[in-house]
Amino acid sequence: MSKHKNPYPGENNTGHFWDDDNDVRELNNRPPRWYMWALYMGAISVVIYSFYYPTIPWFGEHSKGSAGWTQIVEMKESVQQLEDYRQDRFADTEKAIAEKSLEEIVLDDELRNYSIKTAKVLFGDNCAACHGAGGQGNDGFPVLADDDWLYGGTLSQISATITHGKRGNMPAKGMLGNLSDPEIEKLADFVMGLSQGKSDPATKALYMKGMCMACHGPNGKPPAPTAANLTDGIWRFKADDQRASVVRTIKHGVNKPGDPLTQDAVMPAFGKSGVINAVQLKKLVVYVHQLGGGAKVIPPTPAKFKPVVASGSSFDAVMSAAEANYKKAIDAKIAWRDTGAMIKEAKKLHKAGKGDAATALAKKANTQAVNSLAQAAVADFAGPRF
Ligand code: HEC
Ligand code: HEC
Repeated sequence: MSKHKNPYPGENNTGHFWDDDNDVRELNNRPPRWYMWALYMGAISVVIYSFYYPTIPWFGEHSKGSAGWTQIVEMKESVQQLEDYRQDRFADTEKAIAEKSLEEIVLDDELRNYSIKTAKVLFGDNCAACHGAGGQGNDGFPVLADDDWLYGGTLSQISATITHGKRGNMPAKGMLGNLSDPEIEKLADFVMGLSQGKSDPATKALYMKGMCMACHGPNGKPPAPTAANLTDGIWRFKADDQRASVVRTIKHGVNKPGDPLTQDAVMPAFGKSGVINAVQLKKLVVYVHQLGGGAKVIPPTPAKFKPVVASGSSFDAVMSAAEANYKKAIDAKIAWRDTGAMIKEAKKLHKAGKGDAATALAKKANTQAVNSLAQAAVADFAGPRF
């Protein structure tokens, strides 16, 4: 800043000089017109925006604005857009899942993969809180990512569990409630032994007295998926002190009303809950099925490869089956040439009165035709074999 007298008094400067030659000076001119217009427009838009959007704080609330805009509404609209896009893009796949059976979905690579991908989020939203993010289980909640099932690992069993829910019910102190504390202690040792492959005949009587076999089977292995398997060492109610947990289960039962020490085991019913729809439920079944130990799904044999079964062992019965299977094999373009020759030869033998040899040859021809059909079904390949 210069301390000199203002060398440009008529210039409308502010008296600020930024260099010794007084070349750089601060003037006091009006800003350019375009600039002022921009400023006024800016001020006007502030007023308009503050009416349009939520702005002014007001007694713990705020003005709502005429547009009804909130971030939540905007987020919901974006989600809806995404849903609409998905609905559009994957409408056919969604429809196929709605219409097809669970088996068909699992056997179809595209539908299976799509179901698994989309069910991951559903599982996270609805199931992971109890079963863990990858179905690895939590304290008090069963692992879904293994092949140890309480209620069965077929598609229909998993579907039933998720649709209707499950409440493990086990009475306290045995079926009749007549086991004493010392008996329960002994029984707990017996149960612990079962999981190590031992079965103590002396305490087996208590297992009988408690009528445990009604649900857990005669040897601790339930005949149907109704109760925990006591022989596999996989504990439904896992605890640091496993024996104490077993005592507690026997003494207080499972889901026994009014008993604070009972083991809780309630799987909610999702079928009619409205939380997930039918298609989402199917996707979840497919997802849970592939997590770990879903029972293998065997593809059905297509009708054209299904062999005709001989309705008896007489020459006529065997021959008619052989001819029917051979014809199917021809239609499927998978017939073996010498099957036809064998059929002809067997008929000749039959005419010549050589009954046994004729029937034997007809059987051989039938077996060969059935084999070719089986091969075609497995490979699902129908190339000509003539
Ligand atoms: C009415 C059927 C029923 C009867 C009777 C029954 N249980 Fe159970 N038990 C169950 C069910 C169901 C479960 C699994 C609980 C669940 O996961 O829902 C279970 C679980 C258990 C468990 C826990 C296993 C684990 O993996 O943590 C033990 C131990 C057990 N039962 C022992 C017995 C004994 C011993 C008896 C006989 C005194 C008995 N149960 C009688 C149905 C029964
Ligand atoms: C509130 C907790 C909870 C939620 C949420 C929950 N489950 Fe369960 N689930 C359980 C319990 C507890 C059991 C065991 C029931 C029993 O022991 O009788 C179970 C059992 C199951 C089983 C049977 C396992 C077996 O071994 O047979 C399947 C399958 C299953 N749940 C799937 C799901 C799916 C899929 C979801 C989400 C849609 C889900 N669960 C949500 C608590 C829950």
